Formats: sequence, C-alpha cells, structure tokens
Amino acid sequence: MNEYIQLVRQRNESLAAVGEKRYACVVTFGCQQNEADSEKLRGMADAMGYTVTEDVRIADLIVVNTCAVREHAELKALSTIGQYKHLKAKNPNMLIGVCGCMVAQKHRVDELKNSYPYVSFSFEPSSLDRFPQILFEALEKHGRQFSIGENARAISEGVPVLRESDFKAWVSIMYGCNNFCSYCIVPYVRDRERSREYAYVVDEVKELVASGVKEITLLGQNVNSYNGGCTFAELLEKLAAIDGDFLIRFMTSHPKDVSDELIEVMAKSPRIAKQFHLPIQSGSDAVLKTMNRRYNTAHYLATVEKLRASMPNITLTTDIIVGFPGETEKDFEATLDLLRKVRYDMIYSFIYSPRSGTPAAKMEDQVPDAEKSERMQRLLALQNQISLEKNMVAVGKTLRVLAEGPSKNDAQTFTGRAESNKLVHFKADDQCIGKFVNIKISRAEPFCLHGELE
Ligand code: 5AD
Ligand code: SF4
Repeated sequence: MNEYIQLVRQRNESLAAVGEKRYACVVTFGCQQNEADSEKLRGMADAMGYTVTEDVRIADLIVVNTCAVREHAELKALSTIGQYKHLKAKNPNMLIGVCGCMVAQKHRVDELKNSYPYVSFSFEPSSLDRFPQILFEALEKHGRQFSIGENARAISEGVPVLRESDFKAWVSIMYGCNNFCSYCIVPYVRDRERSREYAYVVDEVKELVASGVKEITLLGQNVNSYNGGCTFAELLEKLAAIDGDFLIRFMTSHPKDVSDELIEVMAKSPRIAKQFHLPIQSGSDAVLKTMNRRYNTAHYLATVEKLRASMPNITLTTDIIVGFPGETEKDFEATLDLLRKVRYDMIYSFIYSPRSGTPAAKMEDQVPDAEKSERMQRLLALQNQISLEKNMVAVGKTLRVLAEGPSKNDAQTFTGRAESNKLVHFKADDQCIGKFVNIKISRAEPFCLHGELE
C-alpha cells in the first residue's frame, strides 16, 4: 500500500508544483462500517497528496462507497454514480471509482463495466488497502481496473485515516461474517470473519483517548465472536481500563453469542455505555429458523432478562425484518407481541428485500409488497408509542450528554447523545462542542429528548 501511496503522491506533487492541485471526494452509503472505511479512504487519499473535499463538483477523484444490504441502497448508489457522468464530461482528468459491498458482486461489476463507461475502477471491501494500487494503475495505464474475487483476507494495520470528528471515533475490531443468515448478503460481500489483534485495538483506543476523543464505537458484524487473541468481554475490559473521560459503545451483537462474561464486564465498567443493540429480526420462532438465526425467542428473552437484571436502566434497541418469505399474519403478530414484551427504546425496521445469491431470495411464499408495507405501518405505530413512553421516563431527569453541534435546521439548537445513545436537543453555544454537558430533560418525543443546560 505505502509504495503506491508514494507513487500517486509524487504524481500529485508534480501537478501541484505547476499549480494543478488535485481534489478527492468520498461519498458514502450504508452502515457505520462503511463510514469507518470511508475515513480510511480519505486518509489514503490525503496521504496520496489529494486535498480531501466534500464537494463532488470540484473533485478530480470521486470514490463512491456503496452498500448492498437492500435493493434500495444499491439503486440509490447507482443513481448517484449516474449523476456523476456530467461531472466527468466537464473534467476529463476526473476518475470515478466505486467500492463497498455492491461491487463485491460480479453482476454489479459487470453492470458498471458495460453500462457506466465513465467509472474507471472498482474494488471490494476486503481489498480496501489496495485502493492506492488500483488508483495508480487506473492513472498510469489509463485503463479501467475492476478488482473482484481477490479477497485480501489478512487485515492491514496502519492504513492512514482521516476522521470526520475529533471527539467521536469508529474503531473496527473485526471484519466479515460467518453466520449466513438466509436473507443477508454480508457474508458473501464482506467475506469470512477476521479479528484484529487486541494489541492494535488497545493502542488505537489509547491514542484516541489521549487526543481527546470522548466516544469510541467498536465495530464488527458480530462483535461477540471477536477472537483477536482474547474474547470480546476481555477486550472491553482492557479498553475500559484506559485512563480518561470517555465512553465505549459497540455494535453489532448476535443474540446467540452474548456471554455472561460480557454482561458482567459491561455492568461493572462505568466507561462502557449502558446500551445494547441486539437484533432479533422476528418474534416468530418459525421465521427465526428459516432465517437461520440459530436462537429462539425464549433464548433471546432470557438474554434480555439477564441484561436488565445486571443493568436495570439499560437501553435496548433492535433490528426487525418485516415480510420475510413465509411470514404469516400470525408470525407477524408474534413480532408485535415480542415488541410489547421487550419494550425496546427504539427499533430499526426493514422491509425484506430479496438479495440475489442468498437462500431466502429463492424461497417460495414471498410476501406481497402491499402486505409488507401494511405490516410495516402497524409495526411502526406500535413502536412509536412504546418509544414515546420509554422516553417520557427521562423527563425531569438530568442526563450527561456529549454535545455534537448545532442541529441541521437551527443554529441555536444543539444535538448530542446521552449515554443511552438517545438524541437530545438543547440550546447552547459552540463552546460545548465535543464536551460532556448536563442536560435537564423537559420534553420527550418518540425519537428524541429536549432539555436545558444545567
Ligand atoms: N432485507 C431487509 N433487511 C435486511 N437486513 C439485512 N439483510 C436484509 C434484507 N435482505 C437488515 C437486518 C440487519 C440490518 C443491518 O439490515 O435487520 O440486522
Ligand atoms: Fe448478516 Fe446475519 Fe452476518 Fe448480521 S449476522 S451480517 S444479519 S449474516
């Protein structure tokens, strides 16, 4: 990687010497793992002598980091790439590259090759550190480069990173997934599970904390099966022992792998946020079985009970898929019942989207779209009510909130996250950005809280 970073850098330095500064823009779709990967792409672009910009209109290099988890995400990325055609027409020096989960699928790479002639290169998520090489080859050979099926299994340490925030950071601890849930494309596009050695993770977190970062989110498709020289619980224990005023969060957990040891470490460590994202996907045991989730609702509910027994105020969130093949009205009602039982603080719900190459896409009994939408509406109506009731409990209380910055619509209203990860709005000034502040909660909505600085 470093060799190619230097080669591209030399090119860009020669251009800069004659007044031709080069700009790079990374556009991101999808999950937090993609956000984290994009920070590395920007880091590599910066090391290669590009000025990193958020403005695609001035970019000489655009990298689109795509998602494949649902069809909608792919269509959005393809339509965005399509909009860059006219930018390339204006700036013939421009290179457009595509990376991320969508281009780990051969049919999508073929589509780019055949129907998007202005796309110069693509590479899959497991080859992220090959970005400088692929870019260099596209620049030098003026030929299109498409890397697929080369799965670089080893994890590259020391990839440069340009972080978006100086007080919040993502730290990937593992990549890939071995679970093969029957609806999910991730194991096919992100390859098998690989964990980073814990010493690298501990060093990275130490450095972040020393530089003033206040919130660190550990990322992995299934953090509970982390095995980089210690268990996930042991890793958390090591990180929570680092000196400093910071909070650790993590995602995502698989319900089948939540250990008692993990719950114990969480409960006793003030630096680990009392928040757990535990995707259940469905409240029906029959559906969970065809989803190949490898737990049932009884096992899941027992885990929730253990979490709440050790941490009574823990915030629980989940993912739900509506309209999985074969989901009957009765199965769906079991999901509604489960929401009533668990009373999550918030859910992320998705209409099932068939992904080509996954077993579920070939299952009979696909649920008609109208039925999926109708179920989704009922699910949201129930959960909005529960979320509001759960948020009302915070009214009158004072919460410690990490202040992030002004909200999108109003420069005087700030947003921040409480330890529970709940969104809090309050009046403040720039002084508080990146700091923990105490907010007395005065009002609750289903998706956020409002309050005043204390
Ligand atoms: N259709 C709908 N939702 C999906 N998810 C994963 N694959 C699909 C799919 N094919 C959801 C799951 C997962 C979340 C990240 O995305 O709920 O937990
Ligand atoms: Fe997909 Fe299941 Fe792996 Fe999560 S655990 S990434 S849902 S296969």
